[in-house]
Amino acid sequence: MSRRDNPYSKPDSRTLEARARGFPARSVFKLEEIDKRVGLLAPGQRVLDLGAAPGSWSLYASRRVGPGGRVLAIDLNPIEQAFPANVTVVQADALALDTELLAQQGPFDVVLSDMAPATSGNKVRDQALSYELFERALQVALAHGREGSSFVAKLFMSGDFPAARESLRRSYETERTIRPRGTRQESSEVFLVGLNKRGGRE
Ligand SMILES: C[S@@+](CC[C@H](N)C(=O)[O-])C[C@H]1O[C@@H](n2cnc3c(N)ncnc32)[C@H](O)[C@@H]1O
Repeated sequence: MSRRDNPYSKPDSRTLEARARGFPARSVFKLEEIDKRVGLLAPGQRVLDLGAAPGSWSLYASRRVGPGGRVLAIDLNPIEQAFPANVTVVQADALALDTELLAQQGPFDVVLSDMAPATSGNKVRDQALSYELFERALQVALAHGREGSSFVAKLFMSGDFPAARESLRRSYETERTIRPRGTRQESSEVFLVGLNKRGGRE
């Protein structure tokens, strides 16, 4: 693919706009839109951000929850972004998280997952990996999200989509599927949102 045809090869106007606001990536606009549409984040909340590198969502969340809130940012990769004091960064695999750490930092009001597999070019494999990451994020949210909490997770659209929605409906009062305006046209990703986690056994 030539440099001109590759949409990821140079910063576009949205990326430059994100950087001008202090964010490392344009993905911040997706979270901002979801936040505005569903009323996700509020001062004082505890937020878990899975797949947090390079740090745009965590930085946005840290500003929204303010000094009385906390953000736990987790990624396989190191995060170089500088954060306010209310953000804790942990380099780890979300598929094998230390439950003691989550128990210490939680329970969470909001669990976010923008996790995506390193795409292989094999669409079916990438979709299956995306669904695995979605399911893992949901397990963490069900175990460490408090009653009434919210969940947002990315999923590559596939035949697993109905099952993913059904899992959310079982555990949250409200389920929404959002494809933010900032999503690149060629991307198959959507965000599933669960609001108001039910209490008791799921
Ligand atoms: C689209 S990026 C996230 C962008 C981020 N929300 C932001 O706004 O800066 C997806 C991230 O998911 C991470 N990821 C993928 N699989 C993961 C796993 N098993 N555990 C933790 N992070 C993972 C990748 O390392 C990558 O940094």
